Amino acid sequence: MNKDIKEIIYSEEEIRNVVKNLGAQISSDYKDKKLLMVSVLKGSVVFMTDLMREISIDCEIDFMAVSSYGAKKESSGTVRILKDLDRDISGYDLLLVEDILDSGRTLNYLMEILYARNPASIRICTLFDKPDARLVDLYPDYKGLDVPNEFIVGYGLDYAEKYRNLPYIGVLKDDKHN
Ligand code: IMP
Ligand code: MG
Repeated sequence: MNKDIKEIIYSEEEIRNVVKNLGAQISSDYKDKKLLMVSVLKGSVVFMTDLMREISIDCEIDFMAVSSYGAKKESSGTVRILKDLDRDISGYDLLLVEDILDSGRTLNYLMEILYARNPASIRICTLFDKPDARLVDLYPDYKGLDVPNEFIVGYGLDYAEKYRNLPYIGVLKDDKHN
Protein backbone atom coordinates (compact mmCIF):
# COMPACT_ATOMS: atom_id res chain seq x y z
CA MET A 1 0.00 0.00 0.00
CA ASN A 2 1.18 3.57 -0.74
CA LYS A 3 2.80 5.18 2.35
CA ASP A 4 0.49 8.22 2.29
CA ILE A 5 -2.70 6.14 2.37
CA LYS A 6 -4.52 5.65 5.67
CA GLU A 7 -7.15 3.19 4.50
CA ILE A 8 -8.24 1.41 1.32
CA ILE A 9 -12.00 1.80 0.76
CA TYR A 10 -12.35 -0.10 -2.52
CA SER A 11 -9.93 -2.71 -3.83
CA GLU A 12 -9.00 -3.31 -7.47
CA GLU A 13 -11.28 -6.37 -7.55
CA GLU A 14 -14.28 -4.52 -6.16
CA ILE A 15 -13.86 -1.72 -8.70
CA ARG A 16 -13.44 -4.21 -11.55
CA ASN A 17 -16.76 -5.90 -10.72
CA VAL A 18 -18.62 -2.62 -10.52
CA VAL A 19 -17.20 -1.45 -13.85
CA LYS A 20 -18.11 -4.77 -15.50
CA ASN A 21 -21.73 -4.43 -14.37
CA LEU A 22 -21.96 -0.83 -15.56
CA GLY A 23 -20.57 -1.85 -18.95
CA ALA A 24 -23.13 -4.63 -19.34
CA GLN A 25 -26.00 -2.35 -18.43
CA ILE A 26 -24.87 0.43 -20.78
CA SER A 27 -24.30 -2.05 -23.64
CA SER A 28 -27.87 -3.25 -23.30
CA ASP A 29 -29.41 0.22 -22.92
CA TYR A 30 -27.57 1.69 -25.94
CA LYS A 31 -28.06 -1.24 -28.33
CA ASP A 32 -29.94 0.82 -30.90
CA LYS A 33 -28.27 4.15 -30.21
CA LYS A 34 -25.30 6.11 -31.45
CA LEU A 35 -23.16 5.95 -28.32
CA LEU A 36 -20.48 8.57 -27.77
CA MET A 37 -18.64 8.19 -24.47
CA VAL A 38 -17.24 11.51 -23.26
CA SER A 39 -14.60 11.48 -20.58
CA VAL A 40 -13.96 14.57 -18.52
CA LEU A 41 -10.19 14.78 -18.06
CA LYS A 42 -8.19 13.90 -16.17
CA GLY A 43 -9.83 12.13 -13.24
CA SER A 44 -12.09 9.88 -15.32
CA VAL A 45 -9.40 8.53 -17.66
CA VAL A 46 -8.75 5.32 -15.74
CA PHE A 47 -12.47 4.61 -15.40
CA MET A 48 -13.08 5.44 -19.08
CA THR A 49 -10.43 3.06 -20.38
CA ASP A 50 -11.72 0.23 -18.18
CA LEU A 51 -15.40 0.94 -18.88
CA MET A 52 -15.02 1.14 -22.67
CA ARG A 53 -13.53 -2.36 -22.71
CA GLU A 54 -16.69 -3.64 -21.01
CA ILE A 55 -18.87 -2.14 -23.77
CA SER A 56 -19.92 -4.82 -26.25
CA ILE A 57 -21.70 -2.58 -28.79
CA ASP A 58 -20.32 -0.04 -31.29
CA CYS A 59 -19.24 3.19 -29.62
CA GLU A 60 -17.01 6.20 -30.08
CA ILE A 61 -15.04 8.13 -27.49
CA ASP A 62 -14.05 11.76 -27.01
CA PHE A 63 -12.50 13.90 -24.29
CA MET A 64 -13.09 17.26 -22.67
CA ALA A 65 -11.03 19.12 -20.10
CA VAL A 66 -12.44 21.70 -17.73
CA SER A 67 -10.74 23.64 -14.99
CA SER A 68 -11.60 22.36 -11.54
CA TYR A 69 -9.99 22.17 -8.15
CA GLY A 70 -6.26 22.54 -8.85
CA ALA A 71 -4.45 21.82 -5.60
CA LYS A 72 -7.44 22.89 -3.52
CA LYS A 73 -10.22 20.60 -2.46
CA GLU A 74 -13.17 22.98 -2.70
CA SER A 75 -15.12 23.56 -5.92
CA SER A 76 -14.87 27.21 -6.92
CA GLY A 77 -18.19 27.24 -8.76
CA THR A 78 -16.63 28.60 -11.93
CA VAL A 79 -15.80 26.12 -14.66
CA ARG A 80 -13.74 26.84 -17.74
CA ILE A 81 -13.37 24.67 -20.89
CA LEU A 82 -9.68 23.91 -21.43
CA LYS A 83 -10.18 21.32 -24.18
CA ASP A 84 -13.37 20.91 -26.19
CA LEU A 85 -14.77 17.89 -28.05
CA ASP A 86 -13.35 17.14 -31.50
CA ARG A 87 -16.69 16.70 -33.28
CA ASP A 88 -20.19 17.94 -33.91
CA ILE A 89 -22.33 15.98 -31.43
CA SER A 90 -25.73 16.47 -33.05
CA GLY A 91 -27.45 13.08 -33.37
CA TYR A 92 -25.15 11.34 -30.90
CA ASP A 93 -26.28 9.73 -27.66
CA LEU A 94 -23.77 11.15 -25.21
CA LEU A 95 -22.67 9.35 -22.11
CA LEU A 96 -20.67 11.62 -19.83
CA VAL A 97 -18.17 9.45 -18.02
CA GLU A 98 -17.12 10.92 -14.68
CA ASP A 99 -14.88 9.71 -11.90
CA ILE A 100 -16.84 11.26 -9.07
CA LEU A 101 -19.92 13.42 -8.61
CA ASP A 102 -19.31 15.77 -5.71
CA SER A 103 -21.05 19.17 -5.61
CA GLY A 104 -22.28 18.42 -9.15
CA ARG A 105 -21.36 21.89 -10.38
CA THR A 106 -18.88 20.78 -13.03
CA LEU A 107 -21.27 18.39 -14.77
CA ASN A 108 -24.24 20.68 -14.35
CA TYR A 109 -22.41 23.35 -16.29
CA LEU A 110 -21.17 20.90 -18.93
CA MET A 111 -24.68 19.53 -19.49
CA GLU A 112 -25.95 23.04 -20.24
CA ILE A 113 -23.24 23.65 -22.82
CA LEU A 114 -23.64 20.26 -24.46
CA TYR A 115 -27.46 20.32 -24.61
CA ALA A 116 -27.22 23.53 -26.63
CA ARG A 117 -25.38 21.54 -29.35
CA ASN A 118 -28.40 19.28 -29.99
CA PRO A 119 -27.23 15.77 -29.20
CA ALA A 120 -29.91 13.04 -29.39
CA SER A 121 -29.53 12.49 -25.63
CA ILE A 122 -27.18 13.01 -22.69
CA ARG A 123 -26.76 10.74 -19.70
CA ILE A 124 -24.30 10.65 -16.84
CA CYS A 125 -22.25 7.66 -15.76
CA THR A 126 -20.21 8.23 -12.62
CA LEU A 127 -18.10 5.63 -10.89
CA PHE A 128 -18.34 7.28 -7.49
CA ASP A 129 -21.02 9.45 -5.97
CA LYS A 130 -21.01 11.65 -2.86
CA PRO A 131 -24.76 12.33 -2.61
CA ASP A 132 -24.33 14.27 0.66
CA ALA A 133 -22.05 16.82 -1.01
CA ARG A 134 -24.46 17.82 -3.81
CA LEU A 135 -25.08 21.57 -4.26
CA VAL A 136 -27.15 21.38 -7.48
CA ASP A 137 -30.09 19.24 -8.59
CA LEU A 138 -28.24 16.56 -10.54
CA TYR A 139 -28.59 12.77 -10.46
CA PRO A 140 -26.42 10.21 -12.28
CA ASP A 141 -28.18 7.81 -14.67
CA TYR A 142 -25.53 5.19 -13.95
CA LYS A 143 -23.44 5.03 -10.83
CA GLY A 144 -20.95 2.60 -9.43
CA LEU A 145 -20.54 3.22 -5.72
CA ASP A 146 -21.55 5.72 -3.07
CA VAL A 147 -18.64 7.13 -1.08
CA PRO A 148 -18.69 9.04 2.21
CA ASN A 149 -18.20 12.79 2.12
CA GLU A 150 -14.42 12.63 2.55
CA PHE A 151 -11.55 13.15 0.14
CA ILE A 152 -10.53 9.99 -1.70
CA VAL A 153 -7.67 9.28 -4.14
CA GLY A 154 -6.59 6.58 -6.59
CA TYR A 155 -8.01 5.00 -9.77
CA GLY A 156 -7.63 8.35 -11.57
CA LEU A 157 -8.56 10.58 -8.62
CA ASP A 158 -5.84 12.92 -7.43
CA TYR A 159 -4.79 15.16 -4.61
CA ALA A 160 -2.66 17.98 -6.09
CA GLU A 161 -2.10 15.78 -9.19
CA LYS A 162 -0.71 12.85 -7.19
CA TYR A 163 -2.05 9.33 -6.53
CA ARG A 164 -3.95 8.95 -9.84
CA ASN A 165 -1.91 5.83 -10.55
CA LEU A 166 -3.03 3.87 -7.48
CA PRO A 167 -5.14 0.92 -8.66
CA TYR A 168 -7.44 1.12 -5.58
CA ILE A 169 -9.44 3.86 -3.84
CA GLY A 170 -8.02 5.11 -0.57
CA VAL A 171 -8.20 7.88 2.00
CA LEU A 172 -5.08 9.98 2.61
CA LYS A 173 -3.38 10.13 6.00
CA ASP A 174 -4.31 13.33 7.86
CA ASP A 175 -0.84 14.92 7.54
CA LYS A 176 -0.83 14.42 3.74
CA HIS A 177 -3.59 16.90 2.94
CA ASN A 178 -5.21 19.97 4.43
P1 IMP B 1 -17.97 18.78 -8.52
O1 IMP B 1 -18.16 19.86 -9.53
O2 IMP B 1 -17.89 19.33 -7.12
O3 IMP B 1 -18.99 17.67 -8.62
O4 IMP B 1 -16.52 18.21 -8.77
C1 IMP B 1 -16.28 17.01 -9.34
C2 IMP B 1 -14.80 16.86 -9.60
O5 IMP B 1 -14.05 17.21 -8.41
C3 IMP B 1 -14.46 15.43 -9.88
O6 IMP B 1 -14.51 15.17 -11.27
C4 IMP B 1 -13.07 15.31 -9.31
O7 IMP B 1 -12.11 15.66 -10.26
C5 IMP B 1 -13.03 16.28 -8.17
N1 IMP B 1 -13.28 15.63 -6.86
C6 IMP B 1 -14.40 15.68 -6.11
N2 IMP B 1 -14.29 14.94 -4.99
C7 IMP B 1 -13.07 14.38 -5.04
C8 IMP B 1 -12.34 13.47 -4.15
O8 IMP B 1 -12.80 13.02 -3.09
N3 IMP B 1 -11.09 13.13 -4.56
C9 IMP B 1 -10.52 13.59 -5.71
N4 IMP B 1 -11.16 14.41 -6.56
C10 IMP B 1 -12.41 14.81 -6.23
MG1 MG C 1 -12.76 15.10 -12.65
